[in-house]
Amino acid sequence: MIETGKGGEGLRRGRVEGKVAVITGGTMGMGFGSACALAREGAHVTVIGRSDAGLAAADELRKYDESAEFVRMDVSDAKGMKAVYDEVAAKYGKIDIAVNAAGVGRQMRFTDVDEDFLDMYLNINFKGMWNACHAAIPHMVKRNYGKIVNFSSVTGVMVADPGMTAYSSTKGAIMGMTKALASEFAANNITVNAILPGMVDTPMARRGFAESDPVNPDAIAEAIAAQIPMKRMGTIEEAGAVALFLSCDDSAYVTGIGLVFDGGSTLPETPGSGWEPA
Ligand SMILES: NC(=O)c1ccc[n+]([C@@H]2O[C@H](COP(=O)([O-])OP(=O)(O)OC[C@H]3O[C@@H](n4cnc5c(N)ncnc54)[C@H](O)[C@@H]3O)[C@@H](O)[C@H]2O)c1
Repeated sequence: MIETGKGGEGLRRGRVEGKVAVITGGTMGMGFGSACALAREGAHVTVIGRSDAGLAAADELRKYDESAEFVRMDVSDAKGMKAVYDEVAAKYGKIDIAVNAAGVGRQMRFTDVDEDFLDMYLNINFKGMWNACHAAIPHMVKRNYGKIVNFSSVTGVMVADPGMTAYSSTKGAIMGMTKALASEFAANNITVNAILPGMVDTPMARRGFAESDPVNPDAIAEAIAAQIPMKRMGTIEEAGAVALFLSCDDSAYVTGIGLVFDGGSTLPETPGSGWEPA
């Protein structure tokens, strides 16, 4: 929260005070971290998710925003998504912020990926974000104001891992869509940016560790953390802080970027430098 000027007489206003935000995947993980950050800073938040986790998430969010709501919707349902954003806009008269975090992540060898698996990825990870942007932008254009934040990944944009062809393809596509939308709607005062997380401690990450080692998933988590220059995974609160920055007017002149959020994981080292940090 930031203080207003002297005229405010002690009144505190958040960085997104009175803004209307819709957050896909806002029921857990980084989407929930983003929803908390926005609600704490004064936004009216609606979170979209598929599971009952959304009910508890909305209860938690109401500590900061009495109007917080959970809508059960599959992001791959284009018509359903449009109806949700239209309803939010009808209730508040606008949509200012769309944070798009809903996504799935599972490894599979390329030669084992069948059409159903690929379609599932494209429909949720890519079309889900497309649908959210498509549903939100007309409302933003009407008011000549909008902030869109798409969760992409370092995977598929900056780095690549075996078993991640379907995932990487969707995350690369999200970055391409983000840049194209930023260009198309810059004159409408709508900023469109992506966040490129590295390894963040979320239910998705924990599911991945359990798939890799069902007996001792914590050992996988520790081994991964040890390889990160900052020696730890990111948190959902830190992800929320990044989403808040891209959702508020502190980033008014920032558009079309992929903000890397990875504890230094993608920093290349000079081969053979031989330096061991203390
Ligand atoms: N966790 C990481 O390390 C990491 C790294 C890079 C990128 N990401 C990306 O960041 C985003 C958030 O990841 P997370 O780790 O917080 O995930 P998570 O699994 O912890 O949470 C994902 C959320 O998306 C929702 N969701 C999934 N499919 C949906 C659908 N079809 N319709 C509606 N909601 C749906 C879930 O209900 C949940 O709320 C994802 O797009 C993910 O690909 C995560």
